[in-house]
Amino acid sequence: MLKVQVAYFCIFCFNNFGVTPVHGSYKFNSLNCEVFAKELGKLKLCQIKAIDRSHNMINIEAILYKTITEVEIHFKIVKRESGGWHPFLYDIRMDVCQFFKNRRRFFISNLIYSFIKPYTNVNHTCPYMEGTQLRLWNWSPDEDAVLAKFPVDHGTYGLHTTWYVNKAMALKMNGSVMFFK
Ligand SMILES: *[C@@H]1O[C@H](CO)[C@@H](O)[C@H](O)[C@H]1NC(C)=O
Ligand SMILES: *[C@@H]1O[C@H](CO)[C@@H](O)[C@H](O)[C@H]1NC(C)=O
Repeated sequence: MLKVQVAYFCIFCFNNFGVTPVHGSYKFNSLNCEVFAKELGKLKLCQIKAIDRSHNMINIEAILYKTITEVEIHFKIVKRESGGWHPFLYDIRMDVCQFFKNRRRFFISNLIYSFIKPYTNVNHTCPYMEGTQLRLWNWSPDEDAVLAKFPVDHGTYGLHTTWYVNKAMALKMNGSVMFFK
């Protein structure tokens, strides 16, 4: 994880010095959600919605059937190249409850989360009570802000996440996004 953060820092530095100016736009092109622990909750929505021809947004909604006090996430960023998905920059497994106790201790995760925070009610530490609706509403982060922090080449990138509750796989969500000029 340390290595990953160092790699990231360099990209960040180059960008700050204006070495890699990136301009462009993005569009989500896939989203899949799969619940494994059906006793813990249900997904009501997992959807990409069009805004206009070149913009869209993500909506995810779930309801909890049980109170959750322990959650981990494993997330990986991947890039589409020569017909397959390849690891790209980050592959992190972390305790979500600890993350929300002190987000600044989790540099990369917190940076990624900062693009999500205004759109979700998943914003506090555990527990998440039975009956709670967890939502990500109309998520379409600001293009310039994302590209300023992640000055990536044009192409297709994916985010694969696996969520573990009490160490057992509970949910998988993955999505992909295309960056273009
Ligand atoms: C968490 O999200 C809810 C719903 O958007 C909001 O009312 C609340 O103020 C947020 N809490 C924090 C700590 O950001
Ligand atoms: C995402 O997950 C679904 C089902 O879990 C799988 O079929 C699909 O290939 C995955 N997509 C990517 C981009 O890995």
